[in-house]
Order: sequence, then C-alpha cells, then structure tokens
Amino acid sequence: MQKIRIAVFFRDITSPLEKEYPADYQGREDASHFYYLCKTLKKLGYEVIHYNLDVENVSSLRDVKFDLAFNLCDDGFDNKAYLEPHVPAIFDIYNIKYTGSNYYTLATCLDKIRTKEILLFHGIRTARFQTFSTGNEILNKSLKFPLIVKPAKEDASIGLRFDSVVQNERELRKKVRDVVRRYDQDALVEEYIDGREINIGIVGSKDPVILPVAEICFDNFPENMPKILTYDAKWDKETFEYKNTRNKCPTQVDPAIEMEMKEMALKAFKLMGCQDYARIDIRLDSNNVPYILEVNPNPDLSVDAGFSHMIKAAGKTYTDLIEMIIDSAVERYNIAEEPAAEFIGKKVKAKVSVRA
Ligand SMILES: Nc1ncnc2c1ncn2[C@@H]1O[C@H](COP(=O)(O)OP(=O)(O)OP(=O)(O)O)[C@@H](O)[C@H]1O
Ligand SMILES: [Mg+2]
Repeated sequence: MQKIRIAVFFRDITSPLEKEYPADYQGREDASHFYYLCKTLKKLGYEVIHYNLDVENVSSLRDVKFDLAFNLCDDGFDNKAYLEPHVPAIFDIYNIKYTGSNYYTLATCLDKIRTKEILLFHGIRTARFQTFSTGNEILNKSLKFPLIVKPAKEDASIGLRFDSVVQNERELRKKVRDVVRRYDQDALVEEYIDGREINIGIVGSKDPVILPVAEICFDNFPENMPKILTYDAKWDKETFEYKNTRNKCPTQVDPAIEMEMKEMALKAFKLMGCQDYARIDIRLDSNNVPYILEVNPNPDLSVDAGFSHMIKAAGKTYTDLIEMIIDSAVERYNIAEEPAAEFIGKKVKAKVSVRA
C-alpha cells in the first residue's frame, strides 16, 4: 500500500517567543529537533512536507491535501501556550487528521487547576492546593509549608524558579503577586512534595503502551536547594541546575509503587482523553506515596527529551517512537482503508515547502 503523506507542523523559531515572557524563552528557540523528525519520517518512507503555521498562511490549509498532520506545535500557535489547543482546533476546522490530542484535551490539561479537580473527582492523588487570583486571598491554613507557586496555565517550567518554593506566608504572597503580574493568570499554590520525581510515558490510543519508568535525578543539589525542575534546569545549559539534573530510565522503584504509578498514569491518560502519546509527571513523597503533578498531552518529542529515553529503555529507537505515534493516529482514523489523498501542495504559496 502507498505510504501516507505527512505534513509536519511546527513553530517558527523566529516567532515572538521572546516578547511573550522576557524571562522565559532562552534555550527553547532551537528547531533542530523538528528537522530531525522530518528526516526520521523520510527514513521511514513517508512523503514529508513541513508547514510553518501562522496567521498569514492558515487559510491555505484549505488547498493542501495530505493524509496526516504531525503536530509538533508544543509551544502553541505563535508560540503562545494559551493558543496550544488552537492548533488541533484549526485542523478540525479544515477537516485535517492529526497526531496527538485534540483541542479539548490540550485545553483542559493546560489548565493545571482544572486537571487537578478532575483527577481528584476520580480519586487520583494530586498535591493539595489553592488557587490565587490576586495574592490577597485568605490562605487555607490546612495547607502545609513548604508550598510551591506556579502559573496555572503554562508548561516548559515557565515561571518556575527556586523561589517558587516558599516557606511562609510572606514569601507566598510575594511570589503569588509576582506570578499573577508577570504571567497574567492565576497562580496555583500546591503543597511541595518532597521526594523523587517520576515521569510515565504512554504511547497509543486504543491499547496504550506504558513505557519504562523514568526519574529526574537531582545530582549534587545542595541541601538547601529545592529539588525541582526550574526553567533554567530544563533550558539553560550553562547553569548548575541544568548540569546536575539527569534523566534516568529505567529507574528502580518498589514494584508495588511502580504498579500504582502506572495505573494512576493510565487512568489519567484515559480520563483526560489523551491520544497517541502523553507524559504524566509524578512526585513521590518521603513515604513513597505518588502524587500526579500534571498530565502533558503534548510533551517534548525531541530526540534528547525524556520521551526518547523512555523508548530506548523499552529496547526501541526514536524512529520506532515516531512510527508508533503515526500507527496510533492511523488506527484511530482508520486512514489505511482510504485511498491516499491527492497532494496539491504547489497551490500553496506561503511558507509551505517540500523538502527533498
Ligand atoms: N507540588 C510539587 N512538589 C514538588 N515539586 C513540584 C511540584 N509542582 C511542581 N514541581 C516541580 O516543578 C517542575 C515543573 O512543574 P510542572 O510539571 O507542574 O510544570 P510545567 O511547566 O508544566 O512543566 P512541563 O515542562 O513538564 O510541562 C516539576 O517537574 C517539579 O520538579
Ligand atoms: Mg511537568
């Protein structure tokens, strides 16, 4: 059968990442992983085009025919996190089939507070929390310090610094006001879960596969340094935090706890309506009790990101991961039963190109 044609949608590195949050853009402007993905798809035998989606060319989607869009816009339309759900929403409008979760799942998971409410409703453990919109709210005294303050609707550790972990009410209010002002959204205040950090990767849709458990190790962190993945720990290669955080996969966890984490992750994956792939972030407390921090339906798929470590630990390659994601989407949409679509990409002018 003829291989399907794939259009890879990605964020333009020249988009205004910088303007959005001046303190949180460095390190994320590298698009090399996008080209690597295109190369991988070609290696797999697919015909590949790439599409740099923006306001100017969005309507040209009407004229392009391919079989499947690979959504790599994990920073959102125009690199704005709040426009992340809009990318699959645009695909829906143009009746385009795509990899990954739909707009509804992306929007709900982007909202960490709403996600926590859903998890709690379904009996899945997540850190106790309170929402702050101004910083003047009365603090729920049953919350135990230290607490951690995060923007309610961001990802990529945007807004996460060491001073996000607060020890008392004065520090809390200062940080909440800072988050509300800087990121123009509610602050999520959670109990700080002081223990190991675990990631669970899941691939598939009908019969999702749980990948080997990964751990973020905070090597050499001094006693007084919160063991958290700050923005710098994720993106700034020059920092102590970056150099001393390590992704270990597979990692050793007590089998009963491993089973519990996998079960809660899979339940969360299904509850939130994730499709094709997702990463669930968990912390274990000092008694090894797992708490879900968040569900990432659109995690980083770079060749050096956590997901790739997990797939390697499963004895597979990055190429296998990409094939699994496509197979999952193809199965969901039943694409194989349809004749290959006619490719009329020449009609599209703006920023669409077929790479040899
Ligand atoms: N309640 C908590 N207790 C302990 N550490 C936490 C807690 N919440 C967040 N962290 C730390 O902060 C990091 C970032 O938090 P979170 O995963 O919620 O943010 P994010 O910006 O959505 O990240 P991602 O890049 O995974 O999308 C976590 O990986 C963890 O190290
Ligand atoms: Mg996370």
